[in-house]
Amino acid sequence: MAREKWGTKLGFMLAAMGSAVGLGNIWRFSFVAGNNGGGAFLILYLLFVVLIGVPLLLTEVSIGRKAESDVIGSFKKLAPKTPWYLTGFFGIASAFLILSFYAVVAGWAMFYFWNYINGSFFTSPDVGYEGAFGQFISHSWHPIIWTALFMTLTIVIVLGGVKRGIEAANRIFMPLLAVLMIVLAFFSLSLDGASEGMKFLFTPDWSALSDPSIYIAALGQAFFSLSLGMGAMLTYGSYLKKENKLPSATLGIGLMDTFFAVISGIVIFPAVFAFGIDPSSGPPLVFITLPTIFEQMPFGGVVGLIFFFALVLASLSSSVSILEVPTAYFMRAFGWSRFATSVLMGSIMFVMGIGVSLGFGVWSGVTPIGDLGILDSMDYIASNILLPLGGLSMALLVGWFLKKSEALEATDLSNSPIGGFWHFIVKYLAPILIVIIFLNAVGLLSVIFPFL
Ligand code: TRP
Repeated sequence: MAREKWGTKLGFMLAAMGSAVGLGNIWRFSFVAGNNGGGAFLILYLLFVVLIGVPLLLTEVSIGRKAESDVIGSFKKLAPKTPWYLTGFFGIASAFLILSFYAVVAGWAMFYFWNYINGSFFTSPDVGYEGAFGQFISHSWHPIIWTALFMTLTIVIVLGGVKRGIEAANRIFMPLLAVLMIVLAFFSLSLDGASEGMKFLFTPDWSALSDPSIYIAALGQAFFSLSLGMGAMLTYGSYLKKENKLPSATLGIGLMDTFFAVISGIVIFPAVFAFGIDPSSGPPLVFITLPTIFEQMPFGGVVGLIFFFALVLASLSSSVSILEVPTAYFMRAFGWSRFATSVLMGSIMFVMGIGVSLGFGVWSGVTPIGDLGILDSMDYIASNILLPLGGLSMALLVGWFLKKSEALEATDLSNSPIGGFWHFIVKYLAPILIVIIFLNAVGLLSVIFPFL
């Protein structure tokens, strides 16, 4: 059976942008930035996107296009008779970890959308939004229904195997989300006390850089936000035709993704300070901040409705790219049908998601890593460890295993003035930075280099 292909390059671009832009830009970016001191985090994150993220995005897509296979098959094809393909299992593992909590949070967003439809969020609930949200997520089955709904939608799109639906929807909803975010940013900036939020986001407190955890947090956010290191972009790249050029496409994806992250910071943080919300509230941060903004806004009920609708669609276009990673692998490796594979994978992730959801209720005392709860622990392992390791493996494959001429050809950089620069980043800079950040996070850097 011939492998599926995108209809057009634009189809690929939209699907890849859809993958990149999602809850990571709005929900995850805000709470991770809030936890890590704001401005200094933003600068590090932007630095990593430019220095590591976009070059590795190009690398990852090019591996998929060259090998025309899934995350494990591609390593087997490009580095035959080596154990390299084993690193592909980092990608499969991170897909399970990430989608099982992603579906829970996207379920929360769907619940919010529903509340704007039925009007119950047009006025503040008796217990305030923070209280109402806390009651909702700690309920034993209510949020799980929404997780199930979101996962079902994801599976339905993936088992269709046709990207037309989501591509077409993204064509409308991504621009709409962008416009809404800009409107919200201006509104948020007009609030009393907004300047404190802007200061938090744009005036770096350099002392935050002395905490080693900020580097790994910024690296993890760059990977998560760009959908990097799992093999999602690799798998999408494998459906590309050879004649589609990659460098401009990946740059476009990087710019778009960064735009959404920065603008959502401009929406969230002025409001956080104006309404006296704690910037380090963790995962619930935007779910408390946003309805408070909408309540203050003229026509906020309608804006909230459209906003959460667009957010759910952005989440769906991301979640399908995650489910596609194990689906593509198991289909090829075991010869299963797309239908059976996507339903099975999605169901396993849903069951894991039940645990994530209960982590905000009856299992709130469960802290697998340090004082991190279930969602935060899964996110930490997947985003801060598995994704960078996956990216490291891809960088080493293209930088060291392939000949330079092969690498440049695979990325359409053979005749480009930036080809040498890109190759230097992928061969040396990105791997070294990733290793240093890891050593730093586990406290080994200062052991190996005592003078630091
Ligand atoms: N990038 C998406 C977001 O920001 C999430 C996502 C989709 C993802 N595919 C991925 C994250 C692959 C890591 C790896 O919401």
